Amino acid sequence: MLRVLVLHGPNLNLLGLREQAIYGAVTLDEINQTLTRLAKDHNVDLAIHQSNAEGDLVTWIQHAHKTFDGLIINPAGYTHTSVAIRDAILAVGLPTVEVHLSNVYRREAFRRRSLIAPVAIGQICGFGAFSYELGLRALLDHLSRSDTQRSSQIREHDREEQR
Ligand code: DQA
Repeated sequence: MLRVLVLHGPNLNLLGLREQAIYGAVTLDEINQTLTRLAKDHNVDLAIHQSNAEGDLVTWIQHAHKTFDGLIINPAGYTHTSVAIRDAILAVGLPTVEVHLSNVYRREAFRRRSLIAPVAIGQICGFGAFSYELGLRALLDHLSRSDTQRSSQIREHDREEQR
């Protein structure tokens, strides 16, 4: 069974309350419930955490080493500042999808720079709560492809051995 870690950064606990015109009315609990349902449909095990502290996010990423197959992260405000979160993702080498509710490229200039995107497989932004669902689907698609690739590499290796 695949294991996926979902991390929500600072202020995302306030979704539903916070700047509704930008982030919508959906709460973090509702997002987590949708993700959990989707994961169950795909036979995937999900762990979900939210923190306002950068160090918590770094620690969860570090602990994900060898225990998770992929990471979905909305680093929120830390997207634009956190060398530490970027370094943690690089350190554990987990396939990572960065998600944002808002289209960060349509907002203030400082939100257009992500320190995380260059170490992620990809980034999804601008679809509100649906960004998370797209992110999970994209990650699972990526993992299934790399799995297929891995198994065909193993088969090729076995064939070589038999020659
Ligand atoms: C956000 C975008 C960030 O710029 C912002 O700091 C957030 C939320 C989003 O999901 O749209 O807190 O990550």
